[in-house]
Amino acid sequence: MFSVRLIGPGRAGRAMAAALADAGCDVRGLLGRGEDVTGAAEGVDVLLLCTPDRALAEVAASVRPAAGTVVAHLSGASGLGVLAPHPRRASLHPLAPIPSAEVGRVRLRSGVTFAVAGDPVARELVALLGGRAVEVDDAERTAYHAAACVASNHLVALMGQVERIAASTGLGLDPFLGLARSALADVADLGPARALTGPAARRDEETLDRHRAVVGPEERPLYDAGVALARRLAGQAPAGPVVPDRGGAPGHRTGRPRVVRSASAFAAALDAARAEGRSVGLVPTMGALHAGHQALVARAAAECDVVAATVFVNPLQFDDPADLAAYHRDLPADLALAGEAGADLVFAPGVEEMYPGFPSPPATTVHVAGVTEVLEGRSRPGHFDGVATVVTKLFALAGRCRAYFGEKDFQQLAVVRRLAADLSLPVEVVGCPTVREPDGLALSSRNVRLGPEGRGAALALRGSLDAGLAALAAGERCPGAVRAAMEAVLESAPLVTPDYAEVVDAGTLRVPEVLAGEVRLLVAAVVEGVRLIDNDGTTVAAPAGGSGAGGDEPRQLVLTTREER
Ligand code: PAF
Repeated sequence: MFSVRLIGPGRAGRAMAAALADAGCDVRGLLGRGEDVTGAAEGVDVLLLCTPDRALAEVAASVRPAAGTVVAHLSGASGLGVLAPHPRRASLHPLAPIPSAEVGRVRLRSGVTFAVAGDPVARELVALLGGRAVEVDDAERTAYHAAACVASNHLVALMGQVERIAASTGLGLDPFLGLARSALADVADLGPARALTGPAARRDEETLDRHRAVVGPEERPLYDAGVALARRLAGQAPAGPVVPDRGGAPGHRTGRPRVVRSASAFAAALDAARAEGRSVGLVPTMGALHAGHQALVARAAAECDVVAATVFVNPLQFDDPADLAAYHRDLPADLALAGEAGADLVFAPGVEEMYPGFPSPPATTVHVAGVTEVLEGRSRPGHFDGVATVVTKLFALAGRCRAYFGEKDFQQLAVVRRLAADLSLPVEVVGCPTVREPDGLALSSRNVRLGPEGRGAALALRGSLDAGLAALAAGERCPGAVRAAMEAVLESAPLVTPDYAEVVDAGTLRVPEVLAGEVRLLVAAVVEGVRLIDNDGTTVAAPAGGSGAGGDEPRQLVLTTREER
């Protein structure tokens, strides 16, 4: 873990110091004006300069270089040259507004893109924060920063004009904010030229003249500049359908899924497919796709005409902020894997699109009683409410479809089945077998966080399930005894902290007095700080005339549905 010192206790510096500490860095102070910074690079891995651009070169020059320490800055506008005379230099600039240190602390760990340059430590810090690093070299710095300022600052300034012009209507900013969000979502889905609507795009001069008359002389130059920009964009608008038609017969797939960011475009695309008589398959995911997700997409593609995958790291289902920040995010890789498996469409909304006002919690959430109260539900309070809420939203947007979920998350599958049935949603929930590595480890997006030793130790989960299955195969019908066999494997494995090992009735997820019929074995453990789960199932006959193991009668044992490995 990195030791970091920062200089510049403004909003960005305080937000960064807190976010790095939350991510597990050893933050050794945030130096401010008037403090002696000469020795600031000593004794730390990284010295991060968070001062305004104009002060960067002077501050960097007043710090004595320390062998091995990377001196980095947080600026978008400056290159690495300002960090002279330090031999190891880096920069990391978050593409995220930081209106206050408190908001920045959370935002910097919510999957932000950072422009990085110089020493590879910059990439490592970004990975720790759960962000995405893009390389921007010094030659492109100014253009990069100008674009970033237009995207954030100028947009905010324009909203200031909206507020002033709308003042006389008494409506306030809120309804216009909703409009702006939809317009931005359209830009993400369609590109700026296709997303443009309104009188400038329609060349409706009469309406534009009436606007000019009411906006007043102070606002007119900015208003006119906006109209000029819109006209310029309208001149570039390419012809073609607003919602591109992937067309073709069922099964026709190009391998390049269309990406939509807005909920309304997602719903519209699937409505349009159904209106053409095509059936819809839905594969909800949190990204970090692997062969297990690809198997879900491939099954959906085999059974449905149009396949939509969703990629959304749902913050509501994480009870641990560190786990949320560490969750692997790589949309370009996800798109390639989803397309390869047969997805036609990928819905990848931002958190604001799913939960306007986030991090304030949504007023309406979904709670499924019963099946959520055991196992994962006990260990991760609130987790299934988060899952149920996001899945209900995705089902509402997707409409009539078949939805594919992995048995790897067996309890989640039970929760989703329950909510779809109880809320009468027009969704057929399809459970698909767990995909495993050749040595038996269940594929999981979290496996990439395991080191080589942890990867080996993680096999204890599969080993624990095998021990439970062996006990059942030997005729054991007492849940406690099967559990003990499973626990023994987890407890004896190095690097493994067991959470639970349980054998339950596959329908109710409750521990019966005597095991009979369809049973499910489930385990959870933490390996190298990574929480892993696994499960397997079988069907066992009730013990003939007794409690099973230890009886004198020869035991009848039926094993019918053991998961393929
Ligand atoms: O299994 C997952 O990846 C998630 O829990 C789900 C179902 C996509 C909801 O966020």
